[in-house]
Order: sequence, then C-alpha cells, then structure tokens
Amino acid sequence: MSSPVFPPISRRVRSIAVSATKAMAQEAARIGDCVSLGQGVPSFATPPPVVASVTKILQDNPASGKYTLQTGMPELRQRIARALREEKGVDIDPDNEICLTVGAMEGLLATLLTLVDQDDEVILPTPTYASYIEQVHLAGGRPVFVPLTAGWTLNLEAVRAAITPRTRALMLCNPGNPTGNVFADSEVLALCELAVERGFVVVIDETYAYLVYEGRTPLSPLGLSRYRHHVVSISSLSKQYALTGWRIGWVTAASELMAQIMKVHDAATICAPTPAQFAALAALDSDPGWLVECKAQLIRRRDLCCRRLDGMRNFFSYVEPKGAFYVMARYLFSDGPSQEVATRLLYGARVITIPGASYGPGGEGHLRLSFGGEEAEINEAFDRIEGWLQTGG
Ligand SMILES: Cc1ncc(COP(=O)(O)O)c(C=O)c1O
Repeated sequence: MSSPVFPPISRRVRSIAVSATKAMAQEAARIGDCVSLGQGVPSFATPPPVVASVTKILQDNPASGKYTLQTGMPELRQRIARALREEKGVDIDPDNEICLTVGAMEGLLATLLTLVDQDDEVILPTPTYASYIEQVHLAGGRPVFVPLTAGWTLNLEAVRAAITPRTRALMLCNPGNPTGNVFADSEVLALCELAVERGFVVVIDETYAYLVYEGRTPLSPLGLSRYRHHVVSISSLSKQYALTGWRIGWVTAASELMAQIMKVHDAATICAPTPAQFAALAALDSDPGWLVECKAQLIRRRDLCCRRLDGMRNFFSYVEPKGAFYVMARYLFSDGPSQEVATRLLYGARVITIPGASYGPGGEGHLRLSFGGEEAEINEAFDRIEGWLQTGG
C-alpha cells in the first residue's frame, strides 16, 4: 500500500503555480547581472508628500495602526466615490457599493470566490493577466480562453460562442496587461450586453485606467444602470501612485453583490492595511503635477521601447501599446515556445522578459516587455538583446 502524501496539499493549490513574473525574477537572481524588461512595476518611488503624510499620521494618530471598518475608512470611500464621479461619470454609494481591499489582487480573488462554484466557467480573452488564470483555478473554476484578434481587440463572435450555461464571469483588464491594448467602448458595451442576455458578470480590472496614451479614460460600465448588476469593477492605486508595496485597491459593485464579496474580504483580511488607506487618501489629494510628470516619462519610455523594437524589425513585430506600460513582442527568430525563448534570452543575454504563454494560449509566440523601468535600463536591455541576436542567439 502506498504511504499517504505528507503534508496533504489541497488539489486546489496543486492546480496553481507561482506567476511567471516571479519565477523569471527568481531565476535571474540565481544567474546574476540581469536587466529587466519583466517587472510589472513603474520605477517611480512613492510620492514624497504621501510618505510625509502617512509618517505624520502614524506619529500623531493612535488609530492609524488599528483595524478600520471592514469596507475601509468612510472618508476614503467617499473620496474614491468623488473621483469615480469626476473622472469616470460613475455614481456609487460609498456606504454600500465599495470595499477597500489588499490591492486589486484581493478584490479580484474575493470577487471570483463569490461568483464561481466548482467547475463553473470563467471566460478569459487571451492574452490575459496571468494571475486571473490561477485565481479562477483557486476558486475551483475552469478558465475558458478566447483568443484576442491579431490587433488585440475582442473577437466578440468567439466570446459569444464560448458562453455556456456554466459561464459565471468574464474577466477583462482595460487597458490591458499584457497587451497594452485599450478596448473600445463599443467592445465593452457589447460584452455587457452579452452578460445581461446570458446571465453572467463582467469583472473589469481598471488598474491601468489612469494610463491611456491617446484619448480619454475607457468606459467604466458600472456607471450604466442597465449593467449595474452584471459588472464588478476592480481598481488599485498600485501603479498610478507607485504604491505597489502598500497594498491598496478596491472593488465596486451593486450593493447586493458587494454584501456577498464583503463576506469573503472579511474572512480573508478583515480590512485593507490602515496606513495604506491613509496613503491612498493622501495620494488622491496630492498635487496632480506628479502624475502628469510620471505619465510624460512613461510616454517617453513607450516611444523608446517601440523605437528599439522597430530597430529589430527582422526579429520582432508588435502592436503599439495604447495604454498601460507593456508591449507584447512577437518573436520572428524562433518557432520555439515562449518559455524556451525567454529562458534562452535570460541565460544568453541576461535580460528578463516574460514568456507570452503565461498569459494564456493567445500569448504564445510572444514575450511581454515592460517599459516601467528607467530609460537607461530599457536601453541596456535592448542593447543586450540586439547583441545576442546578432551573434546568432
Ligand atoms: C492587470 C492587473 N491587475 C491587478 C494587478 C495587481 O494590482 P495590485 O498591486 O493592486 O494588487 C496587477 C499588477 O501587476 C495587474 O497588472
């Protein structure tokens, strides 16, 4: 008789893996002297006025180190409600329709755990944000991948064909990580119509909504009453205000659904970290000049990244990013799987990239490149890739 496995790891956990972003960074640390186009983090430090404000509050206010209400501090919920109204035309009730979470990540997982039962299906247009895949598995669900078009737009007919009686949700990141695409309002509306017609929820991740290179902020469908009960919107200040380590985000949804998501949030975390909630308040009230300057820098980095890729036309093709700080580069120098190509680049050129296949089958044949890093780092990475390719890869 075979002996039982110890410790007894759940099937749920055995079904998931550490994200490729972390795995590549760990591998790079072992190799040493690597430069990164892999990080999902802008290089900026937390704005100094935010740090100063939180430092003072921690010194002066004894409540700043204690739990808040489960949904978060009322004044922060009200401040976010105001921002949503002013920036996206979305009206929410700050008492019942928003919950502050431990980054967008916790909000996404709490939402999936609320919507998805064992073997339910979640549609993921792919390339998709890699962690959605693991989160769907954690919730016991099954990811149903629907490839985006070659220009990274939605294939609505394919989405329609993928819907079954077990479809509970569709997850969309807009602007998209990893593609840098901004979905048109008409695409988002068409998805919401399908959600109403077929009875599922569109989980829309607006982590990068602040970063659109041309035109206005993409449509936030929670603002439209017709879709109110078919949309959950997730947001975060991680990228916008360089607060990735502070862990602050939020979920907005109709009150009935919010009350259910809240139960998961309460069981998992009690509340978002209180110092981070104060940081969020300070960030939202800070001088808008900081954000303007960061965006200007990211535009320069995007242009640099595209210029460098243009200089390697024989080796890469790509769709110019319209938002976020990523580009999916299709490699033309190999027929191999993206994991193998990214590993060869890591060992041969000492450059971290993320294999496209980690974003679902629609990402295969690509590498995700981030231009969140400094210009010098971006240039160094491309110099190394170019040198490596010129010597035969
Ligand atoms: C699309 C997307 N959603 C969510 C997250 C996680 O955000 P947070 O730091 O707020 O948990 C990331 C981080 O890279 C992301 O790219």
